[in-house]
Amino acid sequence: MVKAVVLGASGGIGQPLSLLLKASPLIDELSLYDVVNTPGVAADLSHISSPAQITGYLPADDGLEKTLTGADIVVIPAGIPRKPGMTRDDLFKINAGIVRDLVTGIAKFCPKAFILIISNPVNSTVPIAAEILKAHKVFDPSRLFGVTTLDVVRASTFTAQITGEKDSRKIVVPVIGGHSGETIVPLLSLAKPACDIPADKLDGLVHRIQFGGDEVVAAKNGGGSATLSMAFAGFRFAESVIKALKGEKGIVEPTFVYLPGVSGGDEVSKSLGGGIDFFAVPVELGPQGAVKATNPIPTINDNEKKLLEIAIKGLKGNIEKGVEFARAAE
Ligand code: NAD
Ligand code: LMR
Repeated sequence: MVKAVVLGASGGIGQPLSLLLKASPLIDELSLYDVVNTPGVAADLSHISSPAQITGYLPADDGLEKTLTGADIVVIPAGIPRKPGMTRDDLFKINAGIVRDLVTGIAKFCPKAFILIISNPVNSTVPIAAEILKAHKVFDPSRLFGVTTLDVVRASTFTAQITGEKDSRKIVVPVIGGHSGETIVPLLSLAKPACDIPADKLDGLVHRIQFGGDEVVAAKNGGGSATLSMAFAGFRFAESVIKALKGEKGIVEPTFVYLPGVSGGDEVSKSLGGGIDFFAVPVELGPQGAVKATNPIPTINDNEKKLLEIAIKGLKGNIEKGVEFARAAE
């Protein structure tokens, strides 16, 4: 039996993500939580003919506790999205507190659940979550994931547009680092199958993968950021975690994890020159969550090494900001 939870379920990501989870035959119970509208969203989804039994709670009457109790996997898209002119870091002020409070609930009511954090800035909200879980003495690094799958999805889509591959799912590009602008490092040299990107298109492609979120923010013109593509990506990652939980082997997804706590993470950390605890790399998933972090860094080309150096600088500051915020709140 698998119980999945969405925190922030009434939002732009939360609703389509909840729809995909409700439609999935892998889930037996789906519980939705938000500060508004969850009873309506849950009632609507409850008419869908799929196995998952669905409930929706608001904060009143111990709603968070009821939502989280018994959860195996909790996906968090709660928090405000960007408007044009904002960076993801501009969301920190509001979203840091939201993630802190929701993860405190997880620590109390379902400390063994897999936690998938979508709320931005992911580079900081995941370290916040780790600190909160540590403070409650329930931190298991193999169960905490920053969701960077949208970067991987974009890398496939945008690369296929250049190579002419009609089915972008057939192109797999590892994306490492963090989830914002220059902290996103697509490793096009390791694309499978190998892709021949014309030299005059390479920088533009890398930039588009790094700043794909801005395209959507600009197009929505004040109406928020990526929601539908994020729901697709968030579902893909959640589905991978659940399949691995159910015993499927060989599932590997790039995700932002706490390196010192994941097998293989120390090796990645050394390749990065040390001093960086959170990083997205392809991670093998198993019934206990993250089984092994793979280390693509020794095999990347010089151009990618330069991108990596820039990413590390930005990422360190984002991580420290999250850790300091959570420690100050203790
Ligand atoms: P949205 O405003 O449409 O929805 C957010 C929802 O969170 C709302 O329904 C709101 O009521 C709810 N919420 C606010 N405070 C809450 C709380 N304390 N508890 C529970 N729910 C709460 O925003 P959105 O477009 O769905 O984006 C949500 C977040 O996801 C943003 O921070 C955005 O930047 C981020 N995001 C991340 C990625 C990624 O790749 N990781 C991609 C897209 C968006
Ligand atoms: C994205 O990459 O689309 C998200 O992180 C949302 C944003 O702010 O761009």
